Amino acid sequence: MKYDFDTVIDRSNNFAAKYDELEVKFGRRDLLPLWVADMDFKAAKPIVDAIQDRAAQEIYGYTARPDSYFEAVMDWYKRRYGWEIKREWICHSPAVVTSMSIMMREFTKPGDKIIIQTPVYYPFFSVVQDNDRELICNPLKRVGEKYVMDYEDLERKIDDGVKYLILCNPHNPVGRVWTKEELIKLGNLCIKNNIKVIADEIHGDLVLGGKRYTPFASISEEFAKHSITCVAATKTFNIAGLQASTVIFPDKKDYDKFEKVLNILDIKRNNCFSLVAVEAAYREGEEWLTQLIAYLEENIQFVTDYCRTNIPQIKPNKPEGTYLLWLDCKELGLNNEELQDLMVNEAKVALNSGIGFGKEGSGYMRINVACPRALLQEGLNRMEKAIRGKFLE
Ligand SMILES: Cc1ncc(COP(=O)(O)O)c(C=O)c1O
Repeated sequence: MKYDFDTVIDRSNNFAAKYDELEVKFGRRDLLPLWVADMDFKAAKPIVDAIQDRAAQEIYGYTARPDSYFEAVMDWYKRRYGWEIKREWICHSPAVVTSMSIMMREFTKPGDKIIIQTPVYYPFFSVVQDNDRELICNPLKRVGEKYVMDYEDLERKIDDGVKYLILCNPHNPVGRVWTKEELIKLGNLCIKNNIKVIADEIHGDLVLGGKRYTPFASISEEFAKHSITCVAATKTFNIAGLQASTVIFPDKKDYDKFEKVLNILDIKRNNCFSLVAVEAAYREGEEWLTQLIAYLEENIQFVTDYCRTNIPQIKPNKPEGTYLLWLDCKELGLNNEELQDLMVNEAKVALNSGIGFGKEGSGYMRINVACPRALLQEGLNRMEKAIRGKFLE
């Protein structure tokens, strides 16, 4: 079927964090929300049908996962990415950030060093630091238009205290889809130094422009053994409110340790709606996803063209994946507070301030383009007007 991504949907009764938390996060509620990674699109029809069918049963008790749930996950990764995940590697978790936090607490000791590659999704900082582990930043390098990994810096920072590296593949917010060669170079360095890779691959299905997502663990048996991968249909299919993710543990010792914690916290089950939704997404959601990606590519082009023509001081970084666009705003000549103030209080748009992703994000903003084009147009018009107003004053 043909999906409609253009119609603006009123989310005022949707209890959407993207809208209802504006005041808490930005200090005012009259903003156009283009921040948190949540799409303003309806979910794929097979997902909606599966949830409605489940709701119609009128019994919502504790839920057991059938074999078909695991098969749907395994089939998806094998069919799309050639990755053969074994059934016994798959563990449920309510969310990726939950999983990373559990890993920090259970797999490492206070003071152990964990490497992240900045600028990066801000919970990578908090899962390490709030669990009293030592954060080591290996900043990405900007080479021309592109961000790349800095292997020399990484080698310099590795010592015996480093236990894990948290990889973001594809990378939020810079939009890189790491190539197999880049991952091999990274993985070899980590393996040589006995560092395990936690691969957050939640954006793996959101790849643009014909690029190819390579699951880190799919590269070789050795890479699989030295990694733990977090994925989730919730990001791909915009069903994050259902709270379900999958963690893939090729090392049984890791699986057992993690599962024990899920049991202790009693968070080992899917809720009855995520169970059917995730399976429907992986079995029947591909048609929606293909159309979504085409729409996102057009939205990215739209923002790029708009900025070039009307707000040349803002330079969008071309993403290879994710629906998040990293905007270089340095030419506006504002500090981070002034930039945020301009967007929030003048333009009345809610974007993520780049500095929240690490100090390398200074002078950048992140905009979420997973919304009807009319909303993007409105947001860009507001930004243009505010910038013209400020600089013509
Ligand atoms: C890289 C990355 N990891 C994890 C998450 C959040 O996942 P979850 O809601 O499953 O914790 C996001 C959400 O935007 C993300 O961008």
